[in-house]
Formats: sequence, structure tokens, C-alpha cells
Amino acid sequence: MVHTGVLRVCCLFVLFLYLSAFTINQRPNVQDNDVDAGELREDIPEINLKSGVDLFEGDIMLTPKSRNALLDKSYRWSFPIPYILADNLDLNAKAVILKSFEMYRLKSCVDFKPYEGEPTYIHFQKFGGCWSMVGDLKTGQNLSIGERCDYKAIVEHEILHALGFYHEQSRSDRDDYVEIWWNEITSGMEHNFNKYADNFITDLNTPYDYESVMHYGPFSFNKNESIPTITAKIPAFNDIIGQRLDFSEIDLERLNRMYNCTASHTLLDQCSFEFINICGMVQGTNDNADWVHGISTPGTNEDHTLAGSCQDAGYFMYFNTHSGSIGHTALLESRILYPKRTQQCLQFFYKMNGSPQDKLVIWIRTDDGSGNVRKMKKIHTIQGDKDQNWKIAHVTVHANQKFRYVFQGIQGDNTTSSGGILLDDISLKETPCPNAVWVVRNFTEILGSTTKGHLIYSPRFYSPEGYGYGVSLYPHGLAGSIYTGYTGIRFHMCSGENDAVMEWPALNRQAIITVLDQDPDVKLRMSSSRSFTTMSSHVIASMNNISQWERPSIVGTFDPSCNCHRSMDFGWSTFVSHSQLNRRSFLKNDDLIIFADFEDITHLIKTEVPIKISEPQTHEVVLERNKRSVQNQDDTMDHFIQRSNNPCDPSPCMNGGVCVIEKGQANCRCSSGQAFFYTGEQCESKQIHGNVLGILIGGGAGTIVLTMAVLSVLGRQGNTNHMRR
Ligand SMILES: *[C@@H]1O[C@H](CO)[C@@H](O)[C@H](O)[C@H]1NC(C)=O
Ligand SMILES: *[C@@H]1O[C@H](CO)[C@@H](O)[C@H](O)[C@H]1NC(C)=O
Ligand SMILES: *[C@@H]1O[C@H](CO)[C@@H](O)[C@H](O)[C@H]1NC(C)=O
Ligand SMILES: *[C@@H]1O[C@H](CO)[C@@H](O)[C@H](O)[C@H]1NC(C)=O
Ligand SMILES: *[C@@H]1O[C@H](CO)[C@@H](O)[C@H](O)[C@H]1NC(C)=O
Ligand SMILES: *[C@@H]1O[C@H](CO)[C@@H](O)[C@H](O)[C@H]1NC(C)=O
Ligand SMILES: [Zn+2]
Repeated sequence: MVHTGVLRVCCLFVLFLYLSAFTINQRPNVQDNDVDAGELREDIPEINLKSGVDLFEGDIMLTPKSRNALLDKSYRWSFPIPYILADNLDLNAKAVILKSFEMYRLKSCVDFKPYEGEPTYIHFQKFGGCWSMVGDLKTGQNLSIGERCDYKAIVEHEILHALGFYHEQSRSDRDDYVEIWWNEITSGMEHNFNKYADNFITDLNTPYDYESVMHYGPFSFNKNESIPTITAKIPAFNDIIGQRLDFSEIDLERLNRMYNCTASHTLLDQCSFEFINICGMVQGTNDNADWVHGISTPGTNEDHTLAGSCQDAGYFMYFNTHSGSIGHTALLESRILYPKRTQQCLQFFYKMNGSPQDKLVIWIRTDDGSGNVRKMKKIHTIQGDKDQNWKIAHVTVHANQKFRYVFQGIQGDNTTSSGGILLDDISLKETPCPNAVWVVRNFTEILGSTTKGHLIYSPRFYSPEGYGYGVSLYPHGLAGSIYTGYTGIRFHMCSGENDAVMEWPALNRQAIITVLDQDPDVKLRMSSSRSFTTMSSHVIASMNNISQWERPSIVGTFDPSCNCHRSMDFGWSTFVSHSQLNRRSFLKNDDLIIFADFEDITHLIKTEVPIKISEPQTHEVVLERNKRSVQNQDDTMDHFIQRSNNPCDPSPCMNGGVCVIEKGQANCRCSSGQAFFYTGEQCESKQIHGNVLGILIGGGAGTIVLTMAVLSVLGRQGNTNHMRR
């Protein structure tokens, strides 16, 4: 949808420019007080070895039947896959599993639903380590998300096993691509490097993928922790094998081929304007100016998709606001879209370098009741600012029936001599918008001018409940970190205007931090995302074991830059490596974009449901019908079945769910926003803890755009040891 051949070749060229520096990182053992104990996040083999689990190929639980899951089509799942989240799982793990489901729904046709007595299902449990069985065994199967496995890419990896995939380095042609150093493998662990004949597994006609989330890292099962056991024949990929960011492009290709996926569940639309058909968007007819399909000049940041890196590519939409008259207006409308949920997030990049009086207004056009999509509703207005930088925007849309989204540019002045409104890289997903967006500009410049321990604070954000919080960015990691070449990102609470009515300490809240991969294709983004959940065991020993999540005015230190108290930060001193940041589109236009969310996940404490075997009901109805037809030639039953053949009429969905027909069956879709969570057949209200204020901020106030772009970085040379106490 997005790429032309030119674009693809060009982007590969950009990729390889970044590949020139490569090293193999060692993993020394040090302790530090953060989520990963100051170490690099361990990979599955290390986690499982430490848990005392020695499984086939590291994390595959074998059953007598499962040996040829990949080729044998009877081991493939039908969707949605029923799941149970056992209550022995860590609370953070439960939320991470649900987030991983959302990644599958966005990037493939794989879908999940809460278990309701089906004969086959995945039972997510916490055993030792992270492991799965391969394929659908048709009997209900366990999948372990153990201690320290509660991480998006690890959960995605284990679910890919369950869907029928083996490790990338066990492909029959792997010896053409990687070297296995047998003498460096811990004895007894050699079986982890088995490879399979092509009559056992299939590569689905995809090339060997060094970037696969199913590939082992270089140091898996090694004797000596500084010597690799597996290396790439093209050395540039030594730094890439074992990546645990997200699915690679080929992982998705393979998954979508195996399951014949044609559509995503939650991606409604996206456009980078690289094609002349501008993704089916249309210009308004009763306006008095037009958006122009513009092309960038190489070497500039005029376009956002390619940021000036390619010749003959890099298109964007442009509304000239300096040559017309005041009030001139130009409309750009999407095609008609059919939502499956009730809440969407419109993300786009824009630049308003004309007059500060210019406006960009976002509308949606909905059905007026007669089937025509014409009723306009204003969603959000952005005022011009003469800034030459691309900015990211998120707008929450509440559409539960067919609609179009509309961009309206309005010229505010006729005395300016240049500039206008530019739009690029638009996407519309049926998932919640990030609660807080922090843009750090000129990041490579910051990297060049700072050293280990340098700390940059974000402004204060408010969570939907009303808690104040912020992000601490350490471009080179913490002062005490033994690793070089890593950026540390940590979370802290900030005192705020709602503190008197909030619940303290703020426990069972999940902090999620994401560094955005700005790839124009939303499905190919491999953003780096990590999360932790606040627990009662997080205490400050030097303050009489007071909870770390107590009021920041009690446990924090005052910071004049936000006029608030910031609490001790908690998170990751090695969030992302500099080589990773430079490789994909993490630093497009030299902007580092960080999303930060702080969500109440108390409603996930009790999720386990008992396993009950029930006969599938449709089966019984059909049997009954056939029996009757044969017995007395009475066709009333047939009539009854035909009359009610619209399974969505009446709608079986509760609590405002939207009914959609999939493969002839009713399926409910729910708003996945702050106040609801998706549980398949029913939309269940999440209990909102705290207060009315929290509810107002979270949902009642309607559409709120929560993006905060920071134009000048709030820099501060912090003493990290002091900060961490
Ligand atoms: C799943 O784990 C449970 C223990 O919680 C065990 O009793 C059961 O046999 C396991 N199921 C399978 C299919 O191995
Ligand atoms: C690991 O390898 C390094 C580098 O070759 C060597 O100096 C060290 O002694 C080895 N350690 C062990 C435990 O063999
Ligand atoms: C995908 O399509 C092929 C060819 O039509 C079919 O043989 C296969 O069973 C389908 N797979 C699934 C999982 O539906
Ligand atoms: C600018 O707009 C004002 C008010 O609409 C109008 O009077 C004036 O002639 C315009 N100037 C130019 C140069 O178009
Ligand atoms: C704090 O907790 C630790 C571990 O539970 C305990 O050993 C220590 O005595 C506690 N300190 C105080 C001051 O209560
Ligand atoms: C970023 O760098 C550019 C060019 O060096 C400079 O003009 C601009 O002011 C810098 N922006 C910030 C926010 O520091
Ligand atoms: Zn695995």
C-alpha cells in the first residue's frame, strides 16, 4: 500500500548505511536497582536456563503429536483463539499478553477471545520460564509466561510457536546463513541448535530472516559468556539476530501466508501519500482552495515519509496559505471507513509553516440516518505556529458506524509571503491513542554533547485517572551503568493538582514506555516497548520502607522546571541501544518520540475462568434440524433458521459493543479505550478506581488530544546517584 519499488530500494539503501558499524555485545553480570537489575534484558534461553527448564530447542514443549505441526494443516488454529489468563501470572504479564494480542490484531488476521468452554484454547500460565507447544493440539494447551518473560516480543515469540512456527535458525537452509560454533555450546545443550528437513517444516517460500523475532541471539547456550555460539555469515547481522523489538516484516509475511490473512482487525486506514491516488482520499468540492500532492527536494525534511533521503520519492499533501485570501479553505477527505470498534486513534505528521493564524481542523463525517455520509462533527483544531519541524499528532475519534475523516485547512492571514500546511504519514487504528507523547528534538546532537549520567526530564503528564507522571531520559544511560552505547529511559511520578483525591500509594498501575519507530507503514513499525507494574514490594529502604509509589510530595524532590515534586525514577538503564536507534526509523528528522502511559490494571487481578467442556451449540442445532426434517418433513425449523440468518439482529453485544458478522457468525467489538476492555462476546466495564475527576479526564470530557510536543528540550544535568538514592 505504501511502498513503490523506488521507495523500497531507497529505504534498503538507508538501512545499509546504518549497518556499517557492528559489534557483538557481551553480557557481563552486574546488579543495579532497576527493572532488569541494571542488566540487558535477558533472552528466552537464559531465562529458561535460570529457571531450570531444559526444553526441546530451548522453549518448545513437545507432545507426542506435535512433531510436524508446521506442515500438517490440521495443527492450524481457527480464529479467534480462545484464551485463559491464569491467576498465577504476574499482573504485568497479563497486561503484556493482552497488548501482544493487540499487536497480532493490528498486523495480521490472528484474533483471540476469552475462553467459553471451547474444546481447544491456550491456557496462559506462569510456570518456570517462557515456553509453548507448537501448533493447535485441539485439546487445550499450556503456554508459560514465567518470571521475567513479561515482555511484548517474548510473548509474541511464544504465541508464534503456538501458531505453528519453529525457530528461524532451525530452517533446513540455515547453514547457508549462520555459523553454529558447536565447541562453544554448553555440553548437553547442542539439541537447541537442531535443524529440520524440509519435509518437516516449511519456510512458506520466504527468505532466511536475520531480523526474525524467532531467531536466537548470538550468545544463546554458550559456555563462556563472552563467546558467541551462533554468528551471521553477513557480519552486519550479528547485531540484529536475536532482536526482540517486534515482528519483522518477514515474520508477518510468513504468518499471513500460513493463515491466508488479508486484513488487519484494527488498522482502518493509512497513507504516506507516495502514490498519485493518495490512498483514495478526495478533495472537497465546495471549498475554495486545494491540497496539492507535493514532492520533496532531496536533502530537506520537506516530506516526512522519507525525510529527504531519496530521489523521486517523498510525497506529502500541501495547502498553500500565503497566496490566497483570508478564510480560504481546503478539504481533504478519506474514503468511507467501516469501524469494528467504537474508538479510533488518528495519527498524523503535520507542519504549519505559514501564518500563525492558519488553522488545521479535523472533522468526521458520519451517516445522517439515511445512509448518506454527510453529517459533519468537529473533532479537533490545531493552530499554526510557523515551526519548520514536522510534528506528530494524535486525535481520538469515537465512530461506531461508517464515517470519513476530514482535514480542513484554513488560511488565517494574507500578509505572509511563504508557507502553508503540510500533512504526511497518516494512520487510523482502532486502538487507544497514547496518553502522553514526548518529542525530543536533535537527539544525535544531544548524544554528541552529553555523557553518561546526563538526565533530561519530560514535562509533567496526567494519566486518565489523574496521576501526574513523567519520563526520565538518560541519553547515555545512568552514571553507574557498566554499559556504553545504551539510552536509559525511566518512569517517575510527579505531584499534581489531583493528588488530594487520588489513591496512594498508586499500586497495580502499569507504566508503559514506547520509543516509536517512525516507519511510514504502521504494520512494519518495530517500536521498542517496555512496561512494569507498580507493586507493594517497591519500597524505599532509606525512608523506612515507605512505598515508592506514595505521594511525590512526600517521597520526591522538588523540580522548578515543572514546579512539582518528582519521585525517584524506576525503569531501564539499557532501554534501547544506540545502534538500534540508528538502524530503523527511530530518529527520523533527528526526533526521538516517546509514548508514556500509566494505566490502572486492577481489573486484571482476577481473570482466570474454570475449564468446562461444553458441546458446541451450533452443532446441536444443526443435528436437531436435520433430525426433524427427516422425521416429519416439517420445514418450520428451516424457516426459523433462515429468518434469523442475520446473527447481528438482534445484536447479542452488551455494554455498547458493535456487532460485526465474520464468517457468518456474530462477533462483538468493543471500545478498547480507558473505560472498557475487549472480552470477545461482551464489552465489560473496567472498574475505575479513584474518583469522578479521573473518569472525567479519562472519557467523559469527550475527545481530548493528549499530544505534547516539546520544542525546546528541558535539559538538566542531573546527579543520577542522588536521583536514584
Ligand atoms: C497444563 O498445566 C496443568 C497444570 O496447571 C496440567 O495439569 C495440565 O496437564 C497441563 N496441560 C497439558 C495439555 O499439558
Ligand atoms: C572466556 O573467554 C575469554 C576470551 O577468550 C577468556 O579470556 C576467558 O578466560 C574465558 N572464560 C572462561 C571461563 O573460560
Ligand atoms: C489457505 O488457503 C489455502 C489455499 O486456498 C488452503 O489450502 C489452506 O487450507 C488455507 N489455510 C487456512 C489456515 O485457512
Ligand atoms: C487581505 O485581506 C483583507 C481583508 O480580507 C483585504 O482587505 C485585503 O485587500 C487583502 N490583501 C491582499 C493583498 O489580498
Ligand atoms: C525494610 O524491609 C526489609 C526487607 O523486608 C527489612 O529487612 C528491613 O528491616 C525493613 N526496614 C525497616 C526500617 O523497616
Ligand atoms: C536543533 O538543531 C538545529 C540545527 O542545528 C537548531 O537550529 C535548532 O535550534 C535545534 N533545536 C533545538 C530544540 O535545540
Ligand atoms: Zn522459541
